[in-house]
Amino acid sequence: MSSAHIIFDKTGDKVAHRVIKMRTSAVRDLFAAASRSDIISLSGGMPDVSLLPPSAIKKAMRAAAEDDRAVALQYGSTDGRVETKQVFCDLMRDIGVRCKPAEVMITSGAQEALDLIAKAFIDPGDIILAEGPTYLGALQAFSAYEPDVRCIPFDHEGMRMDLLEAELEKIGKGKAKFLYTIPNFQNPGGVTMSPARRKRLLELAEAYDFFVVEDDPYGRLRYDGGHVKPLRALNDQVVYLGTVSKVFAPGLRTGWVVAPKSFLAKLNLVKQGTDLCGSAFNQVVVQHYFTDTPWQKTLQKFVDTYKTRRDAMLAALEKYFPPEATWTHPEGGFFVWVTLPDYVDTGSMLSVALDKGVTYTPGDGFFPNASAGQNCMRLAFCFESPENLDEAIRRLAAVIEDQLELYRAFIEAGAIKATSPEAAQR
Ligand SMILES: Cc1ncc(COP(=O)(O)O)c(C=O)c1O
Repeated sequence: MSSAHIIFDKTGDKVAHRVIKMRTSAVRDLFAAASRSDIISLSGGMPDVSLLPPSAIKKAMRAAAEDDRAVALQYGSTDGRVETKQVFCDLMRDIGVRCKPAEVMITSGAQEALDLIAKAFIDPGDIILAEGPTYLGALQAFSAYEPDVRCIPFDHEGMRMDLLEAELEKIGKGKAKFLYTIPNFQNPGGVTMSPARRKRLLELAEAYDFFVVEDDPYGRLRYDGGHVKPLRALNDQVVYLGTVSKVFAPGLRTGWVVAPKSFLAKLNLVKQGTDLCGSAFNQVVVQHYFTDTPWQKTLQKFVDTYKTRRDAMLAALEKYFPPEATWTHPEGGFFVWVTLPDYVDTGSMLSVALDKGVTYTPGDGFFPNASAGQNCMRLAFCFESPENLDEAIRRLAAVIEDQLELYRAFIEAGAIKATSPEAAQR
């Protein structure tokens, strides 16, 4: 007969101060719920790996398991295999950046690069600048090192340079350590930084003495408009983060950093303590995928599929969402950012949405302090079929409409006062 056990967490009071302050990712937490078969998920930014041709995967895997297995199964150098770095240099050349393998470091996805940068460069209290909202995985990586993250709002042309300049003016020259940006189809905003703003950002970086980290997982997933040159193509001091996660497979956990050699030397130092070196096996697979398979054809399949899904989501938002809601119109990437009246709390609304069979990511996780973005949500269109996207937006619109109705009823009954301009007008 088994007896019940109560397990006490004996290490609870020993946990580091910085960990107590770290917030868990709502997306990670939602993974469990989103796997229920009746739920349509608009929460995770997962590429549709079912679009990858099995023959290409087999070919790349066979190279690692047979021809190159002596290297693939062995420890490698901390900065990565030179053959795979050369593949990344070739990919960079396609988007207008010239670099040599010595200026490249291979990481376990762009996520590890974010952590290494934070580990090597952030002291507690350091000022870091970023778009607000920004990628929550970056906020998580940074927060372990206790920076003061200042968020700069964006509009349809990306980060607002006037607001950035005002913030820099306030904090002073040399006071911000670096600025983190996702200039293409931003996560979660979906917006792209215009060429004029890219140029201005680099001028401000020079004038106020901070370095720029350009995170570009989605740049090749463009559905309309022309290619915009990366920041790194305009200035070789920019630290560029690339990844195979959205153009090949996130399961291989392979990304890269392009940066000046002296910068990479610091990352190398801290990476040694993290994992000695990345997976040589995965680097060999990635190398063969991008050299021996028709990967451009597969990339086009990704682009065509996501474009259809983006169009389906935007059409459904027009069809079902209430006039009080506004949203961004991404030219690429995976995400649409929705803003609702400020009295709607998307965090507490999530359980109702789950009940109705749809998930999204609440907006507050994309800000360093949870009091911002509460009336916003990120919707991912990358993973579901157009039919499911239409149904998901229909369900979500009904949940939002219920919230709006409830609020209107409270105001009419005099139970609460209208707090937003939108509410006051009704
Ligand atoms: C903006 C951004 N940066 C970094 C990452 C992490 O990518 P990786 O899978 O390469 O670690 C993601 C993943 O969604 C992302 O959206």
